[in-house]
Amino acid sequence: MRKTIAVIEGDYSGPEVSREAVKVMKRTAEVFGHEFVFKKVLMGGEAIDAAGEPLPKASLDACLESDSVLLSAVGGPKYNGVPKEKRPERGLLALRAGMELFANLRPARVFPQLAAASPLKPEIVARGIDFVIVRELVGGVYFGRHETETVNGERKATDIMSYSESEIERIVRVGFETARVRGRKLHSVDKSNVLDCSRLWTDVFHRVAKEYPDVQALDMLVDNCAMQIVRDPSQFDTIVTENLFGDILSDEASMITGSIGLIPSASLGKTSCGMYEPIHGSAPDIAGKNMVNPIGTILSGAMMMKYSFGMGTEAAAVEAAVNKVLDEGYRTGDIFSEGCKRIGTVEMGDLIASRIG
Ligand code: IPM
Ligand code: MG
Repeated sequence: MRKTIAVIEGDYSGPEVSREAVKVMKRTAEVFGHEFVFKKVLMGGEAIDAAGEPLPKASLDACLESDSVLLSAVGGPKYNGVPKEKRPERGLLALRAGMELFANLRPARVFPQLAAASPLKPEIVARGIDFVIVRELVGGVYFGRHETETVNGERKATDIMSYSESEIERIVRVGFETARVRGRKLHSVDKSNVLDCSRLWTDVFHRVAKEYPDVQALDMLVDNCAMQIVRDPSQFDTIVTENLFGDILSDEASMITGSIGLIPSASLGKTSCGMYEPIHGSAPDIAGKNMVNPIGTILSGAMMMKYSFGMGTEAAAVEAAVNKVLDEGYRTGDIFSEGCKRIGTVEMGDLIASRIG
C-alpha cells in the first residue's frame, strides 16, 4: 500500500523523536512491502516562527489531504509570552477541530520490563494496569466561549462548557466499540452531581448502552475516578469522558505507568485520516541532547498503521520490536535503572528499526 503521512516535527525535542518514528515506519514499509511518503508540515512554534501563526491554512490543508498525521510535540518556553490566539497549543486545538478529530484514545499500560518505575506500590501494579481513556476532543469547555471582561472595577473571566446530544453520542459509541474489543467494561466518567452537561452525558450513555448488552456500562464521578486510578487501576478497562476531564485523568493515568515517554495516542474522526502523537510534551530541558525517549512517538506510528491503515500485523511488528529492545535491557535516561544499558534517542530508534521483521 502507498500512504502519504503529514509529519509535524514540532518544537524543542519534537524533531528528534519524530525522526526516529519516521525511521521505524520506513523500515516497516520496507519489510512489509509498503510505500510511506512523508511530508513535513508546519504547526505550533515552528509555524509561528515561519508564518506568524500556529496553524497556517496550508498546513491544515496538507493534513486533510494526507492519509494520516504524525505529530511529536509542540510549544515550549520560547512561546510563553505570545498572545493567547497565537500560542502553539492553539495550533493543536485548531488542527483537532479542523480535522474533526473528536475521539482521543489514550492507553495507560505498564510495560512489564518497567513495572518497578511505577510510583504505585508493587502489589497494586501487580494486579495489572491496562486501560484506555477515550477522551472527547473537540467539544466542551475547550471550545466554548472564553472571555475576560471588567465588571464592577475588577476582571471577571468566563469559560462556557456545552455539549449537544449528538456530540455525546458519537464519543460514547467510540467508548463502547473500544470496550467491546478489549475487556467489555466501560466506565463513563462525569460530574453529574453538579453539571448539566454531565447529566445529559449520563443520559445519552445509558441510552446507547442498551445497544451494547455485551459491554458492562458503569458510571463514575470524576473526583472518585481520579482517586480510583491510584487506589486500584486494575478495575478499569475503558473509560469514556468529556474533554477537560479526559485531559486531566489521562495525565494521571500516564504517570502511574511510570513510563510517560512510552505512551502513544490516537485522535480519530469520521474518516480513516487520524492524528497520532506521544502523550509527552516537547521536553525543552533535554532538547538537542540525544536524550529524549522516542518510543512514545514510534508507538504512535504503530497506532497509525493499525487504526488508519488497517495494518494490524505491521503495528504488532513494531510493538514486538520495542518489547524486544526493552527486554534486551536498552533504556533512554527517563526509564533507566541499575543494570540496564543507557542509550540515546538515535540509538533507540536504530535498535527498534533493526529488530523489525
Ligand atoms: C493534551 C494537552 C493539550 C490539551 C494542550 C497542549 C492544549 O494537554 O493534549 O492533553 O489540553 O488538550
Ligand atoms: Mg493534557
